Amino acid sequence: MYKNIDFDSIALTGEAPGEEPRRQYYFIAKARRYVKEQSEKLGRPLTAAVITFGCQMNARDSEKLTGILEQAGYEMKETEEADLVIYNTCTVRDNANQRVYGRLGVLNSLKKQNPHMRIGLCGCMMQEEGALEKIKTSYRFVDLIFGTHNIFKFAELLCTMLESERMVIDIWKDTDQIVEDLPVERKYSFKSGINIMFGCNNFCSYCIVPYVRGRERSRNPGDILREIQALVADGVVEVMLLGQNVNSYGKNLEEPVSFARLLREVEKIQGLERIRFMTSHPKDLSDELIQVMKESNKICRHLHLPLQSGSNRILAAMNRRYTKEQYLALAEKIRREIPDMAITTDIIVGFPGETLEDVEETIEVVKKVQYDNAFTFIYSRRTGTPAAAMENQVPGEVIKEGFDKLLKVVQDTARERAALLQGQIQPALVEEMNGQDPSLATGRLSNNTIVHFPGTADQIGQIVDVELKECRGFYYVGRQVT
Ligand code: SAH
Ligand code: SF4
Ligand code: F3S
Repeated sequence: MYKNIDFDSIALTGEAPGEEPRRQYYFIAKARRYVKEQSEKLGRPLTAAVITFGCQMNARDSEKLTGILEQAGYEMKETEEADLVIYNTCTVRDNANQRVYGRLGVLNSLKKQNPHMRIGLCGCMMQEEGALEKIKTSYRFVDLIFGTHNIFKFAELLCTMLESERMVIDIWKDTDQIVEDLPVERKYSFKSGINIMFGCNNFCSYCIVPYVRGRERSRNPGDILREIQALVADGVVEVMLLGQNVNSYGKNLEEPVSFARLLREVEKIQGLERIRFMTSHPKDLSDELIQVMKESNKICRHLHLPLQSGSNRILAAMNRRYTKEQYLALAEKIRREIPDMAITTDIIVGFPGETLEDVEETIEVVKKVQYDNAFTFIYSRRTGTPAAAMENQVPGEVIKEGFDKLLKVVQDTARERAALLQGQIQPALVEEMNGQDPSLATGRLSNNTIVHFPGTADQIGQIVDVELKECRGFYYVGRQVT
């Protein structure tokens, strides 16, 4: 593992090694020397910040970037007032892109004040031709651009950037490479995301992810288990297994393994207390998985099961490959087998051709399933996806009417579901101190509900029993009982 590597003892006289991850270790060592030289010249440490714009997978990538920057000798900052700022971008909906453009304007003025400042952009948005062109022409002050497929090369790209005065750009179309054993720096000491697979093969017709993240590739179970064991030895009690569709994990491995099988192995890791995963595609959720969840003491009582729409016509046009009836039967089976399982979902309103009647059908499913929470999104037209080329795009006013109606039902249902826990005593993992009231600790229940209770900072990372005294909408105020 990289933990045992002394980067200062790596010789930089010869050529960089060809094979990974040794090649990146070499470039970390090289970057370390550049950073040291410059900070000696300036008489202060060099600082860096990585800002995450996207999903949990994007956040995990940011931890990998941070790991490398720390090894290179940068002091990490939370804000953009730093010598190196990396934006890890997202492009799933247009508003994510707009946020990046907006903040780049601010970065430009910061750069004018700090002549040493460098700016890097990476992540999903960089894999999109249109966005890349726009940055190249209108945001000339950016120093480094790379994509999702070559993120493992960050140390090497960092060196190239530090040696060059010009904009460094390296974007790959796709890759089948998975590089293990690179440094990672976790945001939380007690919980961590773990990539179990990369990419997506589902091509839902509205979604850009398969184009910017490439084809589905699973990590070897041995590598995943080894990583979790190391994390647990380092104080992690909760893991979140990450993939765009975890239910199809392992299908393309040389020796195929099911996701349910992987979970069984993860469960055996001593010292690990909680297992979460995301995201489950309804079309691939097996009975074996339900059984494993039911029997498990560690898998949390929370399943994120994106519906997207409750109208069969729209589901077919979305290429989701399940019907409303199949989804409802699945949700019912889960509720029957594991009654305390919280179910959450994602819903898109305004897909091309969607009418208010279609939204009514979605609302009907929300009422039947009784979601504990639902993320509702307004459809965003993504260039290059099949849905973007559809002629029947829905006007904004129609979308808004359906969206508001759906949101109300979603919120009412979530509030009713949250209230069901009133008076119960449940284990909560203490995650942080409350930002507004420092006498309160904030914990997360197995089913993902948040509870605030009188506590102290030394409890962070511990699992404590909490009585859920008062439901305030979607969260609880409680009292510790152990
Ligand atoms: N792989 C996950 C989803 C990843 S994207 C899955 O299949 O569930 C997260 C969510 O963003 C999706 O569930 C979807 O609801 C939403 N989304 C994706 N593309 C979108 C688009 N073009 N417009 C609006 N919402 C979108
Ligand atoms: Fe996008 Fe569908 Fe893949 Fe999820 S499963 S990432 S929604 S294409
Ligand atoms: Fe995630 Fe956004 Fe990419 S949702 S996979 S960071 S497009």
